[in-house]
Amino acid sequence: MFKNDIVHTSHAKNELPSEELLAVIFEYMGKITAETDLDKLLMILADLGKRLVLADRCTVWLHNSENHQLWTIVAHGIDPVIIPDESGFIGHSFSTGQSIIVEDAYTDDRFNRAIDQATGYRTKSVLCIPFRNAEGIVIGAFQAINKQTESETFNERDLEILTLAASYSGKSLESSMLRNELIETQKEMIETMGEIGESRSQETGNHVKRVAKYSYQLAKLAGVPEMQARLLKHASPMHDIGKVAIPDTILLKPGALTSEEFALMKTHTTIGYNVFKHSKRELLRTAAIIAHEHHEKWDGSGYPNGLKETEIHIFGRITAIADVFDALSSERVYKRAWPIPKVLNYLQEQRGKHFDPYLIDLFFQNLDIFLDIRTKYSEESAGD
Ligand SMILES: [Fe+2]
Ligand SMILES: [Fe+2]
Repeated sequence: MFKNDIVHTSHAKNELPSEELLAVIFEYMGKITAETDLDKLLMILADLGKRLVLADRCTVWLHNSENHQLWTIVAHGIDPVIIPDESGFIGHSFSTGQSIIVEDAYTDDRFNRAIDQATGYRTKSVLCIPFRNAEGIVIGAFQAINKQTESETFNERDLEILTLAASYSGKSLESSMLRNELIETQKEMIETMGEIGESRSQETGNHVKRVAKYSYQLAKLAGVPEMQARLLKHASPMHDIGKVAIPDTILLKPGALTSEEFALMKTHTTIGYNVFKHSKRELLRTAAIIAHEHHEKWDGSGYPNGLKETEIHIFGRITAIADVFDALSSERVYKRAWPIPKVLNYLQEQRGKHFDPYLIDLFFQNLDIFLDIRTKYSEESAGD
């Protein structure tokens, strides 16, 4: 906001009284502790900073030591903003570990005008506060811009308040970053394990991705709660992990399998189950169920246990549809993709035989969703 605006509107804010400051801090403490998503946490902290020091804008920057950059999220769903870690006030504050108060950015050499030039925004007063992790290493910084009171400048009190917020945020951010890293690692390992299973049977990486997406959507349509549906999504790529133990002579055999060979092939379900069944992780125990039951059939004619109807876990029933739909509708080294009408006829024909009739009905009532996924994650497209 410019000086002129303030004079004309006479709505310049007053500094927050201490009780209000405390109220704001308490309000945000709950939100910060409850938030597990790093991007959202960044935005909550930025919002907190903005309210505490009455800034027009506030951003929370995090350091990426691999590529010497600082990054931030300014709005949900929008790509991060990235700058070199020595750029501008924020870079200075980060690299020196010191706080900065600037009255007018344009009179200061450290100011990087590029962002103002690109956005048409006019930066005037600036407050930067670095924050540290539990070991005291600077991992990022707060940046508040344009004080909204009549003085238009940040003061020592702002610095103290934001420093306090930063000392609290540093630890929350660090644990959120670590958690993020763990989750990403876990997802990547699971997907890779799924791909290993599939590659043994000449499937492609996108097969497991599509099966995951189909399974998730079908679960949601069937009223499975979000957390459970996500578990299914992350675990379903591992349905064939047991194939790692099946010899190539069987997996890659061009003709029909003999009955002994087929008996051995069927063990990929119990092998997958045995790999994960003792895990304490819910995700891996879910993977155990899916590996075990994805070849069971509604009418009891499936394997390994000939379970029928709702004896089969809903995750097994869902994955069966997702897996067969995808296997038939996509090309493999050994076969061409079936045309979609033929695939749909088959699924319909197997309603109540191979597949849960209720789930098949949901699938057909919402066919668009599944065909969209199929197009979006086709072999030609990279998907996400
Ligand atoms: Fe399988
Ligand atoms: Fe599969």
